[in-house]
Amino acid sequence: MSACEVKQLNNRRIVLEAKNITKVFPGVKALSNVSLKLREGEVLALLGENGAGKSTLIKVLSGVHNCEEGDVFINGEKVVFNKPSDATEKGISIIHQELNYVGTISVAENIFMGNIPKKGFIIDYPKMYEEARKIMARIGVDINPKEIIGRLTVAQKQLIEIAKVVTDQTKVLIMDEPTSALNDVETENLIKFIHNVAKKGIAIIYISHRFDEIFRIADSVVVLRDGCNVGGMDIQDASREKFVTMMAGRSISDTYIKKEANPGDVVLEARHLSTTHIKDVTFQARYGEITGVYGLLGSGHNDLGPAIFGQERIISGEILVDGKNIKLDTPITAIEHGMAYVPAERKTEGLILNSSIKINMTTAYYSKHKNKKFIDFGKDNSIAKKWIEKFSIKTPSPETKAESLSGGNQQKVVLSKWLELNPKILILNEPTRGIDVGAKIEIYKILDELCQQGLCVIMITSEMEELLTMSDRVMVMHDGLIMADLSGEKISQNNIIKYAMGEQNERDE
Ligand SMILES: Nc1ncnc2c1ncn2[C@@H]1O[C@H](COP(=O)(O)OP(=O)(O)OP(=O)(O)O)[C@@H](O)[C@H]1O
Ligand SMILES: [Mg+2]
Repeated sequence: MSACEVKQLNNRRIVLEAKNITKVFPGVKALSNVSLKLREGEVLALLGENGAGKSTLIKVLSGVHNCEEGDVFINGEKVVFNKPSDATEKGISIIHQELNYVGTISVAENIFMGNIPKKGFIIDYPKMYEEARKIMARIGVDINPKEIIGRLTVAQKQLIEIAKVVTDQTKVLIMDEPTSALNDVETENLIKFIHNVAKKGIAIIYISHRFDEIFRIADSVVVLRDGCNVGGMDIQDASREKFVTMMAGRSISDTYIKKEANPGDVVLEARHLSTTHIKDVTFQARYGEITGVYGLLGSGHNDLGPAIFGQERIISGEILVDGKNIKLDTPITAIEHGMAYVPAERKTEGLILNSSIKINMTTAYYSKHKNKKFIDFGKDNSIAKKWIEKFSIKTPSPETKAESLSGGNQQKVVLSKWLELNPKILILNEPTRGIDVGAKIEIYKILDELCQQGLCVIMITSEMEELLTMSDRVMVMHDGLIMADLSGEKISQNNIIKYAMGEQNERDE
């Protein structure tokens, strides 16, 4: 954006102002005296480490939480939100970190949930579909309103969520990590969409851990640390280094250089493996090596983990561990053969939300050691303490319920649970989704260290930077097939994208 456009922004009216917001949860001061201002058409990025208070702040601004102290002003008028609909009425629309939909019903029914158009007592389907189409068209979205929502991509679900909350009254649109589950193309589309929304004068608060997109999307940035606003700036004055230093409160590097691998024998082998999503997949993975797996959405890369881990029905093919053919029917068998799988969807697959961090961290351990009939409280406590320290998990205690942790800290709990099993094959699906830069580097360090000690890591990721940083070898998938198996100098962004788009096979073994 040019300097003159920025100046114009400074002249614009302040649409939202938060003054000295303080919010306390039992045992945690999530926000302390936070203030910020937002102008018409401004895109403000909210940055901070996991647990810094970002989601809490926007929940206060959208009527989900009330706060102990502080005031919110819309167009200069003081407002009090006792519930989310109070905020909606004043023109604040929010897309939360976790999408909210019922997967088994149609797009239109989701849009009108609780408010379905009726003729007398009967649902007026033609009207419902027609209105749903109009609501989506308002933000330029064209999705069949009759489609069952569970069949759509994450990006489409998200657009529907946006369509649902954006009304003609919307003055402020708040988005909490909207791109964390999107691929590069979808992220690109969302960025364009946000630019268009901002042009209409709607102000946007945008939370993301991805610096590259923040530089492309934001006019200004506010950084939170430990619940405090530690500074704001225009995007022209910002740099990655500044962000990292402000977020962490000290100077740390945001890059990691992986140690050279020293691969051992083959530990995992897939031969002509097919499921409903992957086709004829054949590869070998070795002890002491990180194999990165990349693909664009729908390429089958996110289905490879569940297939190897016994979560998907295998149509044909076989899996060998240490040269022995194993009959992989359930994850329990996979665990018995030394595998662990960290899923991408932590909320649905990885965590028991209403249980404590400690219980979450030790469930996999007990399912492996079935002979342990009694719970060993001392051991449980030491497991929990170890991982809380190792990953700097932000929690008042190991007894805290997983649901009250911030998104990124939940992901660290899932990772701990599987690492505690001390597996020989670790399969990770989007391991750092939603994780801040400091914690990302911590996770890379731990993976590198484990790899040096001989662990076989299969890292499935949609993040190019992560793939290039951490992989000793890269398998690229397209349309359920492995298109390329790259190592050494052949691992380059251009090469990877070429194969991900479906170019000819290259099996470089
Ligand atoms: N409902 C809750 N009950 C208790 N504590 C909570 C609750 N929600 C958040 N917290 C705590 O408040 C702090 C701030 O959490 P918040 O979710 O706002 O972080 P965040 O900046 O959004 O982090 P992330 O990037 O990981 O999503 C954390 O310590 C978290 O554990
Ligand atoms: Mg959050």
